[in-house]
Amino acid sequence: MAQDLMEKIISLCKRRGFIAPSSEIYGGFESCYDYGFLGALLKNNIKQSWWKTMTQYRDDIVGLDASILMSPKVWQASGHLDGFTDPLVECKNCHHRFRKDYLKDNKCPDCGGELTKERKFNLLMKTFIGAVEDETAVAYLRGETCQGIYMNYQFMKDTMRLKIPFGIAQIGKAFRNEITTRYFIFKTREFEQMEMQYFVEPDQKRKEKWFDYWEKERINWYLNLGINKKDIRFREHQKDELAHYARKAVDIEYKFPWGFDELEGVHDRGDWDLSNHSKHSGQDLSYYDEQTKKKFTPHIIETSSGADRSVLAFLANAYDEIEGGRTKTTEAKKEKEVVLRLDKKLAPIKVAILPLVKNKKDLVKKAKEVYDKLKFSWMCQYDEVGSIGRRYRRQDEIGTPYCLTIDFDSLEKGDLTVRERDTMKQKRIKIKELVDYLREELS
Ligand code: GAP
Repeated sequence: MAQDLMEKIISLCKRRGFIAPSSEIYGGFESCYDYGFLGALLKNNIKQSWWKTMTQYRDDIVGLDASILMSPKVWQASGHLDGFTDPLVECKNCHHRFRKDYLKDNKCPDCGGELTKERKFNLLMKTFIGAVEDETAVAYLRGETCQGIYMNYQFMKDTMRLKIPFGIAQIGKAFRNEITTRYFIFKTREFEQMEMQYFVEPDQKRKEKWFDYWEKERINWYLNLGINKKDIRFREHQKDELAHYARKAVDIEYKFPWGFDELEGVHDRGDWDLSNHSKHSGQDLSYYDEQTKKKFTPHIIETSSGADRSVLAFLANAYDEIEGGRTKTTEAKKEKEVVLRLDKKLAPIKVAILPLVKNKKDLVKKAKEVYDKLKFSWMCQYDEVGSIGRRYRRQDEIGTPYCLTIDFDSLEKGDLTVRERDTMKQKRIKIKELVDYLREELS
């Protein structure tokens, strides 16, 4: 059943233009995915909500957009060249490679063959810079976005006049040469992170307070965007699970169709990053507190969320299927109906504008007038193809919260029908009051 839900989500994503395999005309490529218009809108709405929550609605965090390529020295100092590894085994028979800790027993899952001894496999993705492809030209696509934040810690602190505690937030692509990819967009080699590094005093008690604070802030962000409380939880890492930089780590887990799994991590990175970058670069990355006259290397509490994993979680959370349909029209009766109950803030299309029929010039003209007026305020879609019931269902399936129908009364009375996605309730609204009405409903 749960796996079934995953297939349904993947099928909806493909059918309705949210997400499709990359390079599909060549048979796809290495679990890379492309976001179509609706997928890009959904992901952008998620990122916008995160960005605003972090950088606009508070005054202690600023945003950054650092480059993906950085000096290879960054990855040496951060410990990623040595410590960013997963356990790899290879089948001696078919030579397929696997992540050891994902295997149930000590046999090749593809052919049953004997496996090699485990070895450490580095996840950083290598590339070459410039025209010469030798060791001196090696660089890495960033394995986590936060290293770009550490590179800009001084620049941001000085130019934005930041006082501890303060944060730097960034959204961007990260790359990992994962041995095993899985579950659609859940674990891929190219993905997007939404990371925030909060710089605090190295005082254990205060640090714990900030850690608890960020755990709560982050889980509340998902809850405020409609994630069901019973489907999200914290899980603290055991000592042997901790990444090389972490002193403490708590995952925010979502109940994906295959079970609870990591959506975001909250980490106490201590002074690992700034101390190591200071040591390797020879730059002083300490902080001088004007009030206490103390100088120290800040510690970091990190919140690190996956934008793609969030897309999958919000889709799974919103997916609803009604056998036999919600409407009683004969046309709809036998069909199952899909309703994507996305939070209004996340819905890709906010308003659909539908003339009752397409062969009446005046209706079409009026509907296009409404569309032309609304499209400057919200992402709207104009649709005149098919019966009105079918058009409602098309919008339900992509999560559009409001459908506006322009009928013959609209021409005479200057009003239209607003139909709400979740309740299917309909009411008449004056066209001249529409912008205020929608502003209220969608705010
Ligand atoms: N800077 C800390 C860091 O990167 P992480 O736990 O390795 O921590 C943070 O990753 C988040 O990034 C994860 O919780 C997940 O949402 C996302 N993520 C990590 N690896 C991913 C992958 N291969 N595919 C998709 N998302 C991934």
